[in-house]
Amino acid sequence: NYERAYFMPLECTYDWVKKEYLTKAPIWCSVDLRDGNQALVEPMSLEEKIQFFQMLVKIGFKQIEVGFPAASETEYDFVRTLIEQDMIPEDVTIQVLTQAREHIIRKTFEAIEGAQNVIVHLYLSTSVAQREQVFHKSKEEIIKTAVDGAIMVKELADKQSGNIYLQYSPESCTGTEVDYAVEICNAVLDIWQPTPDHKAIINIPATVENSMPHVFATQIEYIHKHLKYRDAVLLSLHPHNDRGCAVADAELGVLAGADRIEGTLFGNGERTGNMDIVTMAMNLFSHGIDPELDFSDISAIRAGYETYTGMKVHERQPYAGDLVFTAFSGSHQDAISKGMTWREEHKTDKWTVPYLPIDPKDIGRTYDGDVIRINSQSGKGGISYILKQNFGVVLPEAMREDVGYAIKQVSDEMHQELSPQNVYEIFEEQYLHS
Ligand code: KIV
Ligand code: ZN
Repeated sequence: NYERAYFMPLECTYDWVKKEYLTKAPIWCSVDLRDGNQALVEPMSLEEKIQFFQMLVKIGFKQIEVGFPAASETEYDFVRTLIEQDMIPEDVTIQVLTQAREHIIRKTFEAIEGAQNVIVHLYLSTSVAQREQVFHKSKEEIIKTAVDGAIMVKELADKQSGNIYLQYSPESCTGTEVDYAVEICNAVLDIWQPTPDHKAIINIPATVENSMPHVFATQIEYIHKHLKYRDAVLLSLHPHNDRGCAVADAELGVLAGADRIEGTLFGNGERTGNMDIVTMAMNLFSHGIDPELDFSDISAIRAGYETYTGMKVHERQPYAGDLVFTAFSGSHQDAISKGMTWREEHKTDKWTVPYLPIDPKDIGRTYDGDVIRINSQSGKGGISYILKQNFGVVLPEAMREDVGYAIKQVSDEMHQELSPQNVYEIFEEQYLHS
């Protein structure tokens, strides 16, 4: 009983498929404090939002959606606190979300009074389902609502001091006819009349991710080619992760023409979450491209995130999960151990160690405890590695197999992982004292 609720553009070239990878980092916008926050069982307090904001600034985000100030008192007070207590660095632009409704737009502008750099983010849903079931409005009526909202934000922005930038999101764009999405975005841009010196942002949300990533990218290709004022517009993407492919949507979407990506740390956000910026940034890093975000101490960032949001990062979360650089199995351990030795012997900076996509040290993770861990699946290579790295014990080749079996046997009998200290104690007892 399910129909595919997306629209394939009539013309697309798929030219972007031929590009191997991205050549530079997109402009990032963190939506942790808005989309991430609105999906929490217990939304963040004012103090938690301040600390999270400071962490995002430290990571290097230059655009941060700080909330929906008309939605609640905490949201409003948070924006006021950032502005009144001068907490926003000069090179950081805050972003605030508003619906296309007069009193909400007015409240939003009241919240940002006195800010130096702000993106006012106007959204209005455009999908067939929302038009029919929620708004009971025709396509033309929806365009009129968006245009009325666009006129109002433009008028208020023109009166306000500071640099005010305007952004429009056709919410639920992935369930919208693609040519209609372009039509409504262009109608908004006609009001805003952006220039290359003062760009507007058109943000395409995969509010619900309902197609394969290449289909999303064809939609982006179409929008990229048909938007008016293209050199005066930043084309932004806001993928959600309902099909588990938000990072792929963002990567292919950038190949297809997008300039900017909205997402969150570790993919927090509505339902299955937003696009995980850590993963996309580190994917770039692993291809030798500077992500322009600093994840060199991923464990501290993860600890901050877990404290402020109350969420947990999964053990297998790319780059940040407890187990993502860990090898228990013998053949993996052996290859890693040989790869590390090969690197030392060849004195190379190049990272080619088998089974490890990046050097864990680059994100502040260590080899001890993170990479080679010993249980009943382990082998002689891993056990020799632990003894050498931690205790300076270099096993002669002839002993390695025997020692390996003896130690993993203990783990098998105990049904337990062995710490490096346990490994050494077993070795000591069975080989040094006997
Ligand atoms: O997912 C979404 O569509 C949103 C919009 C408000 C941009 O969060
Ligand atoms: Zn969203």
